[in-house]
Amino acid sequence: MRSPVHDIATADGAVHRRRQPFRWVQFAYALLQGRYASLSTVIDDVLFFFKTTSWDRFRPLICFPSCSWGVVLRVANIARHVVRRVPGLLSPARAIRDATERARTSASLTWPQLVRARTEKITIAITAHCNLRCTGCRYGRDFMPGAILPLDTVRDVIDDAAAAGVSAVRLYGGEPLLHPDLEQMLDHARTRGVPAYVTTNGLLLGQQVERLHAAGLRKVTVGYYGDEQTYDTYVQRPGRYVRFVQSLWAARRRFGPDQLQIQLNFLFSRVSCNAGALDAVLALARELDARIQVDIVHYSLPYFHEGPDRVLQFRPEDASAVRRFAARLLRAQMREPDRFTESAASLAAIPDWAINGPAMQVPCDAGKLIWIGADGSVKLCYVTFPLGNLHEKRLSEILYSQSHHAAARSAFQLNCPRCHCERGSRIEKHGPSHAIYRKRAAETSL
Ligand SMILES: C[S@@+](CC[C@H](N)C(=O)[O-])C[C@H]1O[C@@H](n2cnc3c(N)ncnc32)[C@H](O)[C@@H]1O
Ligand code: SF4
Ligand code: SF4
Repeated sequence: MRSPVHDIATADGAVHRRRQPFRWVQFAYALLQGRYASLSTVIDDVLFFFKTTSWDRFRPLICFPSCSWGVVLRVANIARHVVRRVPGLLSPARAIRDATERARTSASLTWPQLVRARTEKITIAITAHCNLRCTGCRYGRDFMPGAILPLDTVRDVIDDAAAAGVSAVRLYGGEPLLHPDLEQMLDHARTRGVPAYVTTNGLLLGQQVERLHAAGLRKVTVGYYGDEQTYDTYVQRPGRYVRFVQSLWAARRRFGPDQLQIQLNFLFSRVSCNAGALDAVLALARELDARIQVDIVHYSLPYFHEGPDRVLQFRPEDASAVRRFAARLLRAQMREPDRFTESAASLAAIPDWAINGPAMQVPCDAGKLIWIGADGSVKLCYVTFPLGNLHEKRLSEILYSQSHHAAARSAFQLNCPRCHCERGSRIEKHGPSHAIYRKRAAETSL
């Protein structure tokens, strides 16, 4: 459910207040329909309702403390702050959150109508241009060639994201550091209080980090495609690995880990499925004080490619090599628990995702996502469920529409190409998968 009152900016620059009437009637109707069978869903909906409701119109009717949702938000923020600061509270808080999510997922398997869209992260491909030519990618070549999102469009998205309480905006591409207005986009996100981060190939980061940091950049995730010659061959540009490392070093020298988080996105493919590749990324991550995310090579994203003759894609005969690799990952994670972004259970599931691909039956929580292409197209997830185009309507008109909720439900039921996106959170939220892979992680790392 979106906010009943929200701003719509028109081409003439005016901002109009738009009212979505009778939302409480919809809520009551849903109750009558029996959609609120799960306690966690009721709680989540009530919180979401409070978070996105403008209390101004209720002021004459009720005496809400200082009549402001701001107070509630502040209390919630203080609670979050306390949990983060007191190490002993973090893990029980996470355990409660995860158990609640698992309860909700199992209820939704019986009553799929419980599933609704709740956008947490918006990923925006701000440009389709790229300065590399990776074997596994079509950007900079034949995917939306030349497309680029204007600053105003991205600003509108950020405004709508702020109004909807979205907790993260990811700016990427293509290569986002080629967009002339990236700095203004970050600045706008900061002004609106929407946490934004950038996914980049890192080559221009050293040159731009000073002004991007000044505009609010605090986190970058960086595509890591091997080391030395392997990298240069993969990106099809000679001498780029040296520049890549120099650029990351320049950024790290200028800003320490408490000022700028760096995450290396390790592309896990048939080519990088070996001990040497893992040792290399671990070494670089330690030097840069960076974290590592494992991105399994894709088979269904429209902008990725499996390489000539599918050289990057795993085959059934790779199963034992992939299992050995996952075991190494798990041991590395035991030695350095904070180095990896995902849980042991999620790492233990990598061989199944890599080999079984679309046969995996883990419900998808893509209802928390929105993907925006450089041509303005809006989809629920990175792969599918088209919802509209920003050149025709604003994001605020798309969010929490009937088709948005329907897409979230379809994603949950895997009526889609069944990719491995969001595999970490999907494993965590799905009780049976979580139990299997937690056990496997414990056995593997012995
Ligand atoms: C499409 S790239 C765009 C941002 C930037 N140009 C870069 O290379 O990081 C975004 C992320 O997708 C991941 N990625 C790249 N190629 C991939 C592939 N073939 N399969 C799966 N993930 C891939 C990498 O983790 C990369 O950081
Ligand atoms: S993966 Fe990133 S760096 Fe490589 S071609 Fe695609 S967009 Fe460019
Ligand atoms: S599993 Fe399906 S819904 Fe989920 S991200 Fe992949 S294609 Fe989208």
